Amino acid sequence: MTQAAYKSIFVVGTARERAENFETYFAFSTRHSGELIESEKDLVRKREKLKWFQDNPVRSNRPLPDPQSFYRNYVELEDDPRTMDRKTLLLTCVYKFARHEWVGITGAWDATPTLAQARRLEDKISRYHLAEEFCHVRLFHEMFRTMQLEDVKWVPLGPKMQAVYRAFPYFPSWILDGPAFVTELMGIVFYRHFDALLDETFADEPEARDRIRALLREITIDEVAHAGQRRNFVGPRGTIFAKIILRPLFKAFFHDIPGSALLFDVDRMIADARGFDYSLIAPDMMALSWVPSYCRTG
Ligand SMILES: [Fe+2]
Ligand SMILES: [Fe+2]
Repeated sequence: MTQAAYKSIFVVGTARERAENFETYFAFSTRHSGELIESEKDLVRKREKLKWFQDNPVRSNRPLPDPQSFYRNYVELEDDPRTMDRKTLLLTCVYKFARHEWVGITGAWDATPTLAQARRLEDKISRYHLAEEFCHVRLFHEMFRTMQLEDVKWVPLGPKMQAVYRAFPYFPSWILDGPAFVTELMGIVFYRHFDALLDETFADEPEARDRIRALLREITIDEVAHAGQRRNFVGPRGTIFAKIILRPLFKAFFHDIPGSALLFDVDRMIADARGFDYSLIAPDMMALSWVPSYCRTG
C-alpha cells in the first residue's frame, strides 16, 4: 500500500469544498463517536472505549517517588521545576494542558445549542466536537489513574481566565475561527511531543507507558479530525490570521505552564505546527480519522 500524500494543513478550501466537507465530517463524527448522550456530555462509542480501558486496568508498578510532589504542583506549580522528578513534572504539564481544554469546553458547552435545538450543520458539528473533548478529559483522567494518581480533581481556572473562556464562544466567527483552528493544531503537536517523551521518561515502566500511549492515541485520532474540521471553518483571510497568531498563541499558552520549558521545545512545536501536514501522523491512525478533501493530493 502506498502512503497517502497530503498538502499543508493551511491550504484553503473553496466555499463549495468547505460545504461538502462539513457534510462528510459530520457523517464521520457520528459514525466514529456514536450517539450523543446530552445529559452526560458523553458519546456511546467513546464510552465503550473508556469502559474497556477501565475494565482492563493497567496500574504502575513503581508509583511516583513522591506522589505528594504531583499533588502539590499539578494545579499551580509550587516547587522549583528543576528539582522535580521528570515523570512527575511531565504529568503536571499534561494535566495543565488538559485542564485548559476542560475549562474551555465547559464554558462552550453552555453556550452551544443542544443537538436537538441545532438548526445549522455547523452547530451540530460543534456539539459533537465538545462532547468528544469531554471524553478526552476522561481519557486523561485514566492516564493519571494508570500512574496511581487517584485523587486528581478538575479545578476551574481563576475568575479572570474563567470569564475569558466563557466569553470566547460568543465572539463572532471571523475572530474565533482562526484561534479555534490553531488550538486544535496545538493539541496534535503537543500530543506528538508528549508521545516522543514517553519512551525515555517511562523507560522503567513499559506497561504503564504503553497504556498511557494507547490512551493518548485515542485522543490524538480525534484531535487530528478536529484540526481538519476547524480548518474547514476558516476561509482565506482567517487563514492569514491563523498563521499570524500561531506563534504568540503557542508562546502564551506554554508560558502559562511553567516547567514545560524543561521538557518541551516550544519553538520546535511552533515549527511543527507551521509545517504540519497529515503525513506526520501514522497511517494506521489516519485510517481512523478524518481529513479535509482539499488537504489530500490527487
Ligand atoms: Fe481535545
Ligand atoms: Fe479537539
